[in-house]
Amino acid sequence: MKVLVLGKGGREHALAYALSQSPTVERLYAIPGNPGIARLGDIHLEISINDYDQILAFCKTHDLDFVVVGPEDPLAGGIADVLEAAGIPVFGPQKAAAQLEASKAFAKKVMQQAGIPTAAYQVFTEDQLAAALQFVETLSLPVVIKADGLAAGKGVIIAETLPEAESTLRSFFAGKFGRASQRVVVEEFLQGYEASVFAIADGFDFLLLAPAQDHKRAYDGDQGPNTGGMGAYAPTPLVDAALLRKVSERIVQPLLQYMRDQGTPYRGCLYCGLMIVDGDPYVLEFNVRFGDPEAQVVLPIIQGDVAQLLYSAATGILIPESVTEVAAQYACCVVLASEGYPGSVETGKVITGIEAAEELGAIVFHAGTKRNDRGQLVTAGGRVLGVTGLGTTLEAARDLAYRAADQIHFEGKWYRSDIAWQAVQSS
Ligand code: AMP
Ligand code: GLY
Repeated sequence: MKVLVLGKGGREHALAYALSQSPTVERLYAIPGNPGIARLGDIHLEISINDYDQILAFCKTHDLDFVVVGPEDPLAGGIADVLEAAGIPVFGPQKAAAQLEASKAFAKKVMQQAGIPTAAYQVFTEDQLAAALQFVETLSLPVVIKADGLAAGKGVIIAETLPEAESTLRSFFAGKFGRASQRVVVEEFLQGYEASVFAIADGFDFLLLAPAQDHKRAYDGDQGPNTGGMGAYAPTPLVDAALLRKVSERIVQPLLQYMRDQGTPYRGCLYCGLMIVDGDPYVLEFNVRFGDPEAQVVLPIIQGDVAQLLYSAATGILIPESVTEVAAQYACCVVLASEGYPGSVETGKVITGIEAAEELGAIVFHAGTKRNDRGQLVTAGGRVLGVTGLGTTLEAARDLAYRAADQIHFEGKWYRSDIAWQAVQSS
């Protein structure tokens, strides 16, 4: 089949990588794609991911069989609705189901009504500051304050004191994230460890992929500001088979049932962002797509035909047997970032050493790269590359990722040196 990947980051490169290894994929395209994806298929930088009409026209002229959507924005904007109305199967939920990520208040209501374990919460709008503060006082500190809408992963504040909670609420209501923060979720702080579990769902059935752990803070020891994710590994031994069963029974099954009952079945990748508290999973957030950089570890360790798996989910009859093993190996991904990230960064720095990293056996996923006028590969964002090592043990995968990361050079390059520390410590 001919497949189109939408998006341009490391997650989309990992999707393109897995799809290109599938025997059922004869040709791969990406809109807009990136220089790493360009080695696997045709990229179309000239088409905007927000121009659904042009994407539909592209699908028709290229006779595409299947579209895999990487990021949340086009899903929240209804790209799946547009393409499916034209008869093109899409991996990723329609707009109504994508509200699970686009509105945290919606997601919390769904969890409450479906009986899915999550932190206690209330929702407030900008005219309810006094009520919000009253609710904060009923919770113990710290409290968690979340902008309702999409805020590029920056809309969550953990307030340690009452004055901090008040100033956060005031700034959110004053429009810190525009319309996204005119409504806020205030919730109880959960103490535990985090994990990401992905379910590939056809609306009814699902297959869980290997549980992963992301590292959202910028610096070693989980210090510093939040980022899009500085590294990940899978499978994490912190989520064992018994815990995965709880995730299936308490979270994924009731969620799929609820969405079906509402007439908005969930098809695509359901990202369960979990806090594990005393051995029990609680949902911090649902996302309607693969995680980034979790995709860079979860997808390469699947044994089987990923394209067939995703296509079967998209068309409503999941074939779990497309995949013989979801975790045939261990994987560890180290993100190489630009100086200044997650703040503003200078771009255009020449990147060298990718071939040397690949010769060691690592997979180098492009996240923020481009070709300059002279055809050189240069940095084009905060997160530049994701270097994934595979191995028969987590230690081997991690060691390979770090050895390969050291082969790559660009001015200002830095990375966390402790990816997978919780797993390594617990072993
Ligand atoms: P979210 O975007 O909702 O996943 O939140 C971003 C990050 O904030 C999470 O990865 C957690 O580290 C933290 N967080 C969110 N909600 C809670 C909570 N209720 N308790 C503790 N930490 C939380
Ligand atoms: N790795 C976090 C996310 O993709 O939202």
